[in-house]
Amino acid sequence: MSAKGFSLNMRTISDHMDYILVCTKCGRENADPAFRCSRCASILEVEFNYKGKKPKIKAGRGIKRYSDFLPAAPFSLGEGNTGIKKSTIKENNILFKVETGNPTGTFKDRGSAVEIAKAFELDAESVVCASTGNMGLSVAHYARKAGIKCTIFISGGANKNKIKKIMNEKASVKKVKGDFNTALRLAERFAVKNNAFVCGDYHYRKEGQKTVAFELIEQLTKHEPDRIFIPVGNATLFSGMYKGLNEFKMFGMIKRMPALIAVQSERCGPLVSAYADKKHITYVRPKTEADAIAVGYPTFGNEALEAIRKTKGDAIAVSEAEIKDAVVELEEQGIYAELGGGTGYAGFLKYAAENGGKKSSSVVVVTGNNEGIFKEKQA
Ligand code: F0G
Repeated sequence: MSAKGFSLNMRTISDHMDYILVCTKCGRENADPAFRCSRCASILEVEFNYKGKKPKIKAGRGIKRYSDFLPAAPFSLGEGNTGIKKSTIKENNILFKVETGNPTGTFKDRGSAVEIAKAFELDAESVVCASTGNMGLSVAHYARKAGIKCTIFISGGANKNKIKKIMNEKASVKKVKGDFNTALRLAERFAVKNNAFVCGDYHYRKEGQKTVAFELIEQLTKHEPDRIFIPVGNATLFSGMYKGLNEFKMFGMIKRMPALIAVQSERCGPLVSAYADKKHITYVRPKTEADAIAVGYPTFGNEALEAIRKTKGDAIAVSEAEIKDAVVELEEQGIYAELGGGTGYAGFLKYAAENGGKKSSSVVVVTGNNEGIFKEKQA
């Protein structure tokens, strides 16, 4: 499936590794600007042809350093290079990877830098994206800076402050009566009809998100952590980090794989249920207050299940109260997060309480903060 028609004459051919776009289900090779497989409509994957060459990490700052591992030289606005912070709670042997330091306050900027670079290369006049809020804001920001028109389909129940910020980025906002998956269907339909490049939780974004794992490994002074706790919506970050770690392993940059632990709300946990029941992912109606991760059918769910199995990881559900407590505890440690952004920490606390895991080394990815919303609500 693709939004056919816009010029494939590349404005700039970026200096990147050769790759192909392969369907994750039927294996068919697809061509840009495909966003799903033209045969079976499944999600695609970027498969690199390294031709026996080892990609190099470049000097400098931010995700441009990883251009050799990416399908496009990122359209960089200062994303990446986010901080690593030690927990101030002594008995917690954990580090936080604090993604709130990105330009729009979430890890999403890493994916947007790759997607918008690709849209620019392909001469796209406009982009479209479905989102619960953060990704829409990030895409709108990067599109505006690149001079590309942008339309965001935003799910019902999205945080009002996020919608306001997206409008400030001059994007056209379509508020959807329905959840993320309804917004996704509408955005894909809009793309085909209007010849727009599709941004969002697809293959190119996943490439950008994997740089969280690259950076994390580079920042660690000791060995790889035993576990990494990651909040899950569409599982693009989760499966992207798995892809990144695999690539580092392939090139001898890490020795062993950390166990990847997916964390969702009990009120929106399709991945957790599928993992527990050893079944395929089935849609659930999102009922969580953690609006960022209110995704009833994760796009990269199957890839996430594989990542959990291969890394001997886990998928755990946390209650709304546990998420709120975790966000408060993060704030006490000087880390500010929105509910979805602090869900990984809620997962760590639950896991540690049940498994005595505080002694083993863990990393928690803090994904977003929505600039003060939680504080306002609390006041
Ligand atoms: N944390 C935050 C703050 C998010 O905004 C999201 C996803 C996630 C975690 C989960 O990441 O989808 O890659 O598993 N937000 C999307 C959005 C759905 O539209 O902003 P994921």
